[in-house]
Amino acid sequence: MSDFLSSGWSTYITLVTLVGIFWCIWLLFSQRKTKVILNPDGSVADTGHVWDGDLRELNNPLPRWWMWMFLICCIFSLIYLALYPGLGSYPGILGYTTDGALKASENQAIQELKPVYAKYMGMDIQQVAADPKAREMGQRLFLNSCSQCHGSDAGGAKGFPNLTDGDWLYGGTPEIIKTTITNGRAGVMPPFPQLNAAQISNAANYVRSLSGLSADASKVALGEEVFKANCVACHGVDAKGNIALGAPNLTDKIWLYGSSEDTITETVTKGRNAMMPAQANILTPEKIQLLTAYVWGLSNNKQEQAK
Ligand code: HEC
Ligand code: HEC
Repeated sequence: MSDFLSSGWSTYITLVTLVGIFWCIWLLFSQRKTKVILNPDGSVADTGHVWDGDLRELNNPLPRWWMWMFLICCIFSLIYLALYPGLGSYPGILGYTTDGALKASENQAIQELKPVYAKYMGMDIQQVAADPKAREMGQRLFLNSCSQCHGSDAGGAKGFPNLTDGDWLYGGTPEIIKTTITNGRAGVMPPFPQLNAAQISNAANYVRSLSGLSADASKVALGEEVFKANCVACHGVDAKGNIALGAPNLTDKIWLYGSSEDTITETVTKGRNAMMPAQANILTPEKIQLLTAYVWGLSNNKQEQAK
């Protein structure tokens, strides 16, 4: 509870809380009646409130059990506020914080898992990937940290690569996958303001023709010239991409953003900047080891099964 910018708020909240609780107790006692008030004819007196013609509100004392419950609640809240944080920035006698409780349970989990992790740290990625227990742990880590972008089946989405298809922007060896996860990646496809709409349309048709998609033949030849002049530095003369830059292979029918002429035009006109966030400061090396094995296994274990 150190979030208050000035101690004035802390005092204010403490006062409002305590005055509120004592006011409730005072209210209870000030309104308390112990005796049943009777009318001269012996019937129980009412408050004068009548509903639906004949439904009278009797002026009875509060039930005993209710009074005690009310009082116990007030006392409970006072004890609770003495022990736990709640009164402004007063930390409470027990010094409990949710943050501390989370850290403690995280530390406990780390201690408990240490021997398990140590075993996997000493193994090759291929061996870890072959271990069913490690795959399960890897999958859980993936669902926690990676699925929001890559999808829970790692199948990817527009702008987020599919990690199961054996096609890699940056390369699919265990070492490269680990580097990708640890340090993150930032793909830079620059925009091309120097190209006019016709040149971009030609280039888009050429790019489509590379993977056998329908394309305007007259534009393809012109587009090839545009491509040679502007694109080969990153995508390669054969357009098969460059894993050092994360420039995608444009001949393989696998698309990060999409293959329509409109999408390719948008890619070239505005550029693209996919960001894979670095995990080095978020996940422990042990977790990155398991994730590397899990991701590597997604495409490689499948091939083994298919053989
Ligand atoms: C905020 C979204 C986001 C999160 C979270 C995320 N990624 Fe990524 N990841 C991306 C993007 C975008 C790319 C493509 C980067 C590029 O094209 O430069 C990528 C690329 C990758 C690649 C390289 C793929 C290739 O074809 O070379 C791997 C491997 C990868 N991510 C694994 C993971 C793992 C494991 C996690 C969980 C720890 C994770 N990512 C979490 C967005 C994310
Ligand atoms: C400076 C290097 C560089 C140059 C030059 C470059 N690209 Fe790219 N291109 C990339 C990178 C890196 C990506 C991946 C972007 C990302 O990960 O967000 C990319 C992505 C693309 C895509 C998206 C592919 C998909 O799977 O959706 C297309 C299409 C493309 N480039 C076409 C071109 C064309 C056409 C040119 C020339 C006019 C060109 N690029 C020039 C680096 C480059």
